[in-house]
Amino acid sequence: MRKRGTFASGFGTVAAVGGSVIGLGNIWRFPYIAGENGGAAFILVYVLVSLLLSVPLMLSEFSIGRHSRRNAMRAFRKVAPGRPAWQGVGLLGIATALLILGFYSVIAGWALEFLREAAAGSFRAQTPAGLKENFDTFVDSGWRPVLWTLLFVAMNGVIVSRGIQKGIEKFNKVVTPLMFLILLGMAVNSFTLGGLREAVDFVFRPDFSKISGAVVMQAVGQSFFSMSLGMGIMITYGSYLRPGDSMFRVAGTVAVSDVCIAILSGLAIFPAVFTFGISPTSGPELVFLTLPNIFAQMTGGYLIGILFFFLLFAAAITSSVSLTEVVVAYVSEEFRLSRRKASLLTVLAVGVLATLCALSQMSGSPLTVAGKDLFDLFDSLTSTYMMPVGGLLIVIFAGWVMKKELLRREITSDGRYGTGIYPFVRALIRFFVPAVIALLFLTQLGLLK
Ligand code: PFF
Repeated sequence: MRKRGTFASGFGTVAAVGGSVIGLGNIWRFPYIAGENGGAAFILVYVLVSLLLSVPLMLSEFSIGRHSRRNAMRAFRKVAPGRPAWQGVGLLGIATALLILGFYSVIAGWALEFLREAAAGSFRAQTPAGLKENFDTFVDSGWRPVLWTLLFVAMNGVIVSRGIQKGIEKFNKVVTPLMFLILLGMAVNSFTLGGLREAVDFVFRPDFSKISGAVVMQAVGQSFFSMSLGMGIMITYGSYLRPGDSMFRVAGTVAVSDVCIAILSGLAIFPAVFTFGISPTSGPELVFLTLPNIFAQMTGGYLIGILFFFLLFAAAITSSVSLTEVVVAYVSEEFRLSRRKASLLTVLAVGVLATLCALSQMSGSPLTVAGKDLFDLFDSLTSTYMMPVGGLLIVIFAGWVMKKELLRREITSDGRYGTGIYPFVRALIRFFVPAVIALLFLTQLGLLK
């Protein structure tokens, strides 16, 4: 067998897994969803969901990965040799990773363009209508977003082709803490803004009456996406965990960071939004329209704008590197190619998908399927169907197919950590997590109300 690497240090492991977890989901979605759905009450639900569902799913993925030391597809075969059909779950994960890369890279390309515009001072003296026109012209040009997107995809290829320790780990060790520092700096700056109280009120004021079944389900979907679960990332990264490392420590640290960074992001962004009397938004609208409008008016907005778009780019690339690695590990191991060749092939495939997604955003683009442009199609296909199904099958595999003793040995690192709570974690993996994901899935399909 080909020599396989592991992460070199505990810090590097947490930085790499944390880099994957902390992404656009934390920055542009969580604060808004929390604000709309009961503030601190939603945050409480989110924390419970993360601890009771996401952490057990992450531990399951890590176990499958570390035990097998293989890519997301081969891992299933290695853990359960007599059950080849389970490899399909790995393949589903690899396909999910490819599709997510398709649209995620487009957004990252937009972030790069906006980083350039922020540095060139282009937001200054722009009106909201001018900014909207500027964004639409950019997207409609077709070739400009395509070039940025391809540049972004190529950067992923370069990092991943350098290997686990010298590429992925080294990059994340610098960039993940940097993201945290930028957000912290922005949040501290927000404390000087008049809109702080309103922002805190919006993001935190608890309203338990808003918590319904649908809101809990939304918390589950957001937590899985945000913790990069259900698509083989944590199987692949898990295969690079060292045997003696505590999975509880890695999963616990990143779960806590995920929530903290999402809250910090709300504190960094919304005070500025409220200071200028604008109503809160989320997603592309928030970062590419609302915020440039604010940076144009705010003291220090030039520098903050540059830092913010760098942050957005950093959040995207540390996440997309983990997606790219899922595909590269598979291509290199299954087709016996060097990491460099596998990275090149992956970059080419992602480049094609991302180009199509970027072009599908032009107005009047024919790149649509059933009324949805490719970008939206990939987005909804992965988050509504592929990730929940992937997550469900992974916990079923870990809880019911994987040998009992193997799961225990992996999760507790051979009896070294968390042996006391292990029975509880196993029960979650076998019963609670599959039941809740199945419920989520049926609700999304509209089969349950
Ligand atoms: N976890 C990242 C976020 O919160 O934005 C995004 C992400 C990365 C989603 C990787 C899915 C994924 F496979």
